[in-house]
Amino acid sequence: MTIGIGLLGLGTVGAGVAGILATPSGRHPLVAELDLRRVAVRDLTRLRPVELAAELLTTNPEAVVDDPAVDIVVEVMGGLEPARSLILRAIAAGKPVVTANKAVIARYGEEIAAAAAEQGVYVLIEAAVGGGIPIIEPLKQSLGANRIQRVSGIINGTTNYILSRMAAEGAAYADVLAEAQRLGYAEADPAADVQGGDAADKIAILAGLAYGGSVPRAAIPTEGIDRLEARDVAYAAQLGYVVKLLAVAQAMPNLNQGAEQLLDVRVHPTLLPKAHPLAGVNGVNNAILVEGDPVGQVMFYGPGAGAGPTASAVVADILNIAGIRQATAGSAKPPLDPLLAAGSWRACRLVDSAETTHRNYVRLRTSDEAGVIGKIGTCFGEAGVSIQSIVQFETQSAGDAEIVVITHDVCEANFRQALAAIEALADVQAVAACLRTL
Ligand code: HSE
Repeated sequence: MTIGIGLLGLGTVGAGVAGILATPSGRHPLVAELDLRRVAVRDLTRLRPVELAAELLTTNPEAVVDDPAVDIVVEVMGGLEPARSLILRAIAAGKPVVTANKAVIARYGEEIAAAAAEQGVYVLIEAAVGGGIPIIEPLKQSLGANRIQRVSGIINGTTNYILSRMAAEGAAYADVLAEAQRLGYAEADPAADVQGGDAADKIAILAGLAYGGSVPRAAIPTEGIDRLEARDVAYAAQLGYVVKLLAVAQAMPNLNQGAEQLLDVRVHPTLLPKAHPLAGVNGVNNAILVEGDPVGQVMFYGPGAGAGPTASAVVADILNIAGIRQATAGSAKPPLDPLLAAGSWRACRLVDSAETTHRNYVRLRTSDEAGVIGKIGTCFGEAGVSIQSIVQFETQSAGDAEIVVITHDVCEANFRQALAAIEALADVQAVAACLRTL
């Protein structure tokens, strides 16, 4: 039974999907049953890495969704609109959807899941997080018995590629970003990568799956690597750490019972001890560390962006749906996704950041005089912030010093109070950097 595929978007990922569908040999036998029938593009004249018959292409994406020959709609155009409306249109027409669109799912996942449940169609999103890494289905199903304590990960390939090459080669930020764009890792507007928005979309999705709820995307505290300075990466290395853009979602202790789930969800550059399992994840690779009870730590690792890996996840979702269609051919409706059928959606609330606890790395620009370290220590001490280490580094300007402090695990409100007092010291010129440490 041939299954008609409609593709919305023929950019990096869309071309990767079309490439797989055009070369079924040696793949799962169902790939040969998938027939690409309509493709929506923005510009009919653009040169593309895959050759497609001209009559397949249209600039009207609604025509793809509405085409009776299209059985499964694959949305890889990105952006919020018209992607969201097209996904809802496909669902309303009873057509299953495969999407790689983390921005839409992070913001409208609940609306889309409700529409899909009502219509009895699948919406599969494996490619939305982690590129080629299977993480969505394992979180939805394979780890379902666990009480999830924390999901933490490197989930933006572009920034990890930039940080890895800057650390290994001292390469310039702008050059490495341009290379990431050329390789098809970066978003159309790479601000979403370097400012942390892409990772925030993805951790919102992972948190929603791990904790069975809808996470308020706009409330996620997000910091990217665009203000990270090379010297902090170098100082961190001297102190035994690597700097990574980490996305974290964790249940708050003793509060994970009852109807509402309180979560700490955030994205920021983080110092990882060199022995940490995520510290060795380099280049475009992503890794997601899931900590659950009783499973312990499980890590998912692999290429997190790019045409091939992302298309691999998209086509896997198409095959899942195609397989179910074949297995249930003749019955009126396909079976619901078991988790959607269970109606397990619940509200999640983000914790007030002031109540969270962290270890912190702080770099201060100060005058190089007797008593400065003492005054800084007093500010931390009076705020109840315990220091793990304090190191003075030389600077090029005489009379100045750079002091790097690493704290123990301390309450964010106390830490902010100490920083405010330190900033007010006459000997302190600036709090030049402030990063979280694992
Ligand atoms: N721009 C994204 C990244 C692509 O760099 O990870 C995959 O979502």
